[in-house]
Order: sequence, then structure tokens, then C-alpha cells
Amino acid sequence: MTAGQWWRDAVVYQVYIRSFADGDGDGLGDIAGLRSRLGYLSELGVDAIWITPWYPSPMHDAGYDVADHRGIEPTYGTLTQAEALVTEAHRRGLRLLLDLVPNHTSSAHPWFRAAWEATPGSPERQRYIFRPALGDGPPNDWRSEFGGPAWSRAGGDEWYLHLFDREQPDLNWDHAEVRADFERTLRFWFDRGIDGFRIDVAPALAKDPALSDLGGDWTSRGPRPGSAVSGDHPYWDRSEIHELYRSWRELADSYDPPRVFVAEAWVDGPERLAPYVRPDELHLAFNFDFLACPWLAPALRTVIDQTLAVHGSVGAAPSWVLSNHDVARTVSRFARPQSDRPVRVLAELVGIEADAAVGEARARAAALLMLALPGGATLYQGEELGLPEVEDLPDHARADPIFERSGRLDPGRDGCRIPLPWDGAEPPYGFSTGRVTWLPQPAGWASRAASAQAADAGSVLSLYRRALRIRREHPALGDGSMEWHRSDHGVLSFSRLPGFHCVVNVSGAPQPVPPGCDVLLASGPLAAGGMIPPDTSVWLSTDGAPR
Ligand code: GLC
Repeated sequence: MTAGQWWRDAVVYQVYIRSFADGDGDGLGDIAGLRSRLGYLSELGVDAIWITPWYPSPMHDAGYDVADHRGIEPTYGTLTQAEALVTEAHRRGLRLLLDLVPNHTSSAHPWFRAAWEATPGSPERQRYIFRPALGDGPPNDWRSEFGGPAWSRAGGDEWYLHLFDREQPDLNWDHAEVRADFERTLRFWFDRGIDGFRIDVAPALAKDPALSDLGGDWTSRGPRPGSAVSGDHPYWDRSEIHELYRSWRELADSYDPPRVFVAEAWVDGPERLAPYVRPDELHLAFNFDFLACPWLAPALRTVIDQTLAVHGSVGAAPSWVLSNHDVARTVSRFARPQSDRPVRVLAELVGIEADAAVGEARARAAALLMLALPGGATLYQGEELGLPEVEDLPDHARADPIFERSGRLDPGRDGCRIPLPWDGAEPPYGFSTGRVTWLPQPAGWASRAASAQAADAGSVLSLYRRALRIRREHPALGDGSMEWHRSDHGVLSFSRLPGFHCVVNVSGAPQPVPPGCDVLLASGPLAAGGMIPPDTSVWLSTDGAPR
């Protein structure tokens, strides 16, 4: 590993602040709750925390609608509490990343309010993307990621662009004031000791000035036509974007220690991801191809090989990820029959029969695979508890704008955002001292609670803890390289030097442990004769063993 580049093999834990821990009893997670649970995160053994947006927000999109980038949402706490959290996290050796949301603001942001009141052609409207109506309709055919048109009507016969919810107007990144203001935001948090940022929808900031029609019927997260690959899609993954990230890199490098960026970039495969992590751009980019990859050995192997090759070509470390607050929980994705089609969200799972035990076994095995691969990883809160997607939320409880914008056809992302169970036999499972949580928790999560799992050596939490401890101590793990071994169909077998071997059994039949290896950790119980059952991974020590 390159000295001092901690991010290259860091394990980052995503704190979805609304649902992590509630310190004041209002049913919503907050800074006080997070601070009270920092010990849990240290014990888990992660290196850094990424906190989803904690800025003032009307919460039309759970905080990704930011009204003030340099403040703290009052229901989450105060700036003083935020500063104390930074200090305490650092004292515990945990780094802190925040979430920067540069593509859009909230419609409650003072800039948008001023734009709303102002007239067509006014300087106020130029910070956003306002355009005259085309006939009686929107200026072009772009669709919101959340469903429906990407344009809403404003005064003066103009429309404004919002690639997400209508309460999330897109900023105009060709505007000098927009650029300057975000630099100020970066410095504001860097000056307070924040170690870096995750960049929300990093590929969306640059738009075709002509706002040309998209044609076709697709969204940027779905399968995309060739235009996205060539970098001239009208609003996604355009080549101009990289100049902005280079300038942010310079800013981050001007700090001591240098600050770090992680791109949230859903793009067309690793070749399109690599430019974001060139040496003078962002440090890391989540590997969503891995996240969406089915539990099938050939598909996993392809993703791993492509990721390593492409990241290697620009000298970047991969950043593996299995889940986040936008996709269905891993356990529930893997509980379904696996096909070559990548699966991300709950809408793609509805109606497909699930086998919960298989889902959990695969999720455990996938965790050991992920944590054995070269590079870093990001865990999403609750993943370490093996939480399943809550698939049966009542409609009235759903808060994700996707639900309404899709005409209630898409259940949205609330099912992976349920407040965490900490302890106790029933909701709120220690999440809050109040009784009502912002999303209802299911009955039956007592055995999923962190305290119950901490006391159970066979739990998912115990597996993650052990894996992270070994990962910290073992010289072969983290940044570096790996070597595949010949293996049976459906088996992934690779080693890392010195002395480490990982076997992932994605086949339907038990597999032998390679001769001369000692088992360091297995994702589930081994079968008779020490065989590795289906949907199980093992970490092996090959010290002294013939290879
Ligand atoms: C990112 C966030 C998602 C949010 C969207 C709009 O994809 O992860 O939660 O809804 O951006 O900001």
C-alpha cells in the first residue's frame, strides 16, 4: 500500500443518520444517537464512517434535498454537536466522511426561493436550469430518476429541471457562483476536520447546454444506450465533469492530511468508472457492478476481473460495496433465484419467491468475498446485522418520493431504511426512547438486534467483527493484488500473499478445503469432513502449506 493513503483499503461504514440511533426520543436518528453508538462502530472494526446528509432540509428526499450546505438539520442536532462528534470519532481512530449533494439543492434553498420569485432571464434563475416552455409542455423529454417528467412549471412560462424530485432543482454547474459556493462548502467542513466527502450522483452535474432530447424510454440507472458510453449523453457521465473533480482534488490535496472523495457514480461499467478515479481526480468510486452482480460464479468473476484491470490501469484502489440506502438489502436480493440480470431495487424483487435462509447464507458468503478482495469496502448500516429488506411496509408509511412519483407502482427504497434494532424484544428495539419511529420497524427483529447478535458467536454481527479483525491484522488483506486458482465450476478460489486463500462456494455442491490450509474463518458451518457447503466462503491460512 502507498504510505499514508488510508482510503485504499479502508472499510467505511455508511451511517444513514435518520435510521441509525435516536438520542432525543423523536423517532428520528440524530447526532446524539450516533455519538452514543460510536463505541459499537469501533468494536465492529471499521476505519471510517460516512454520514448521509445531515444538513437543514425539508426532507422530501430524506435529506438529499439540502437547504443549507453549511448547517445542521435541527432535528439531527447542532453544529456544536457535529464538531464534538468529529473530535470523538477521531479520538477513537474513526475517520469521518460527509455526503456532498452538488447536483441539486432543495427547493427551500434561498437560491431557489429567489429564483422562484424572479423573472425569466434574471440572474437568480441562472444558478438553476430554467427554460421556456416548448409549446405548452416541458423544454425536452428528460425523465426524473424518480418517475415522471424531469421538469416542473415555474412562473413566467418557464420550467425548471429536476433530475430527481420536483423539490430538488438541478444547479447550473456552468455558473461561477455555484462553483465558488461549493468550494466554500468543502472548505467549511474540511476546516472542521472532516476527512472527506462522498459525492452524490457524481456523473450528473454536467448537462448538454443544448439540453437535447434523450429519445427512447430509459433512465440513467437502467440499461443505457451507446450514447452514455461515449460520454455525450445529454446529462449523464459527460466528459466535462472531470475538470470539476480535478479542481476539487487540488483543493482536497491542499489540506494536511489530504482530504478524500468517494464518487457515487452509477455508470456503464468499469471503463466509464475509471476516469473518475484517475490520480488527479477522485480517490474512490463505489463499485456498483459488484453490488448489482448476481450470486453466480462467472458473473462475480467477470466483475472482479474487470474491476481490478480497470482500476489498476489508473492506479486506483477498488471500493467494493454490497448495499446502500438506495438498493434492496443484500439478504433479500440473494434470497431470490439468481439470473444473469443485475438486480438492485425492491421493485425488481416483488412477487419473486424468497428463501430467507439461502439469502442470509449468500449474504454472509458475499461479505467474506468482498472483504478478501484487494482494495477497500463500504458497509451499509444493518448489513452487519443481516437485516432483510422490509417488503411489506403499509403504503401510508412510505416516505420515499419514488413511491408517489411512480404512481405508487414502485415501492421505493424505504424497506432498506428501517431504523436499526439495537436491543429489546419489540419495536423500537432500543433505537429510540420514544415509541414511534419515522418508519415502522417489523415485529420479529429481536434476534436481529445488535445486542442479541453480539452475544451470539454464530450471528452475522459476530462474523463481520471477526472478519474485520482478521482483515486488520492479516498482512495479505486490504490493498494489493490477488491470484485466481483453478477451481470447479461455480467456485471462486484465489490467494493473496502472504499466506491467504479464499474459497467461495457459489456452486450447488459441497467443495473440499484445499489441502494443507487452516480455516481462519468460515461464513457458515462447514459440512461433514470439513467440506465447504454451497453458499459458503472460507478464509484460509496457507502459511507453510504447499501451494
Ligand atoms: C443519490 C442518493 C439517493 C438520492 C439521490 C438524489 O443517488 O444516494 O438517495 O435520492 O442521489 O440526491
